[in-house]
Amino acid sequence: MQKIAETEDFASYLDQMVTLDPRLSGTACVLRAIEAAAIEMSDLISLGRLYGQLGASRGSTNTDGDVQKELDVLANDLFIDAFKGSPVAAVVSEELSEPLVLDPAGHLVVAMDPLDGSSNIDANISIGTIFSILPMIADANGPEAHFLQTGRMQLAAGFVVYGPQTSLVCAFESGPTQIFILDHRARRFIRAVSGPVVGTEYAEYAVNSSNYRYWDPPVQAFIDDCVQGTDGPLKRNYNMRWTGSLVADAYRILLRGGIFLYPGDQRTGYKDGRLRLLYEANPVAFVVERAGGRATNCVHPILDIVPSAIHARVPLVFGSSDTVELVTRYHSDPQFSAEHAPLFGKRGLMRI
Ligand code: AHG
Ligand code: MN
Ligand code: MN
Repeated sequence: MQKIAETEDFASYLDQMVTLDPRLSGTACVLRAIEAAAIEMSDLISLGRLYGQLGASRGSTNTDGDVQKELDVLANDLFIDAFKGSPVAAVVSEELSEPLVLDPAGHLVVAMDPLDGSSNIDANISIGTIFSILPMIADANGPEAHFLQTGRMQLAAGFVVYGPQTSLVCAFESGPTQIFILDHRARRFIRAVSGPVVGTEYAEYAVNSSNYRYWDPPVQAFIDDCVQGTDGPLKRNYNMRWTGSLVADAYRILLRGGIFLYPGDQRTGYKDGRLRLLYEANPVAFVVERAGGRATNCVHPILDIVPSAIHARVPLVFGSSDTVELVTRYHSDPQFSAEHAPLFGKRGLMRI
């Protein structure tokens, strides 16, 4: 087997960031804990059924009503355990109804989706962990208040993908997004891409189109136009990719562009889509923006939204700047929609 070229590993990247700004030492400490837990996760996920019934339902539900799988709870416990010993005052997790208070002397809070893509566990499709590190706020009224900050306040954020490669995507508030890949033999993450740029050359959209009939007209119009390809107003042939794991779609988009949409729809409970602002949309938006892409709730930047609650959902659109901007125009400019999607007006009338 060929030797891996000697490049910077995650630990020395963190050391460099702390040298540049010593105030980041607590954040780096949390990221080291995430790295260690991610390596453990990678080990057990790669064993799959040899490890246990990771994709089996536990018969319990999380606050959103999703059925918890064995691996959801295992991942939650593993990351929380890893945070002990780092300056994490409290954790919000998809799997916990309330913030969990850890170190009262800590000065950071972490929001996380310990296991993203639970429906893919048994299918051997990429799954992941999403994390967001925030500073505590002064004069907060209870632990929840620390989490109700906009995504712009994130000190660092990112996600891990457990796939053919285990990858760690991470960005600090200052500096471009970085991508590391786990070298299983050395048990450390090595930098693979510094400063990926969300390109525009791939015309790929990711959306669960089985929800088409529930979408609002601007989303239907945009996807109709993608499907029409060069015969339609966008004059470009699109391809479709949808993994069912936000982390896998986000990773692909970071590397080669395209667009992801999980809009709000008319199903009960889906007014704001399915994805959660604190631990899904915000961290993804953070790394996408730092890679030159864009992320919105169809209209406004994700990172400017003030969360109304720790588990609040948000419509999520992200990817190549120009295409995300296009979706905003479909939403905010009826004239544009009518011109670009001749069917849009008709569909609008049909819906009245
Ligand atoms: P989680 O497993 O943390 O609940 O997240 C699943 C999310 C996300 O990864 C994916 O993009 C989306 O849910 C898939 O939703 P649908 O099953 O509605 O397509
Ligand atoms: Mn998720
Ligand atoms: Mn999850």
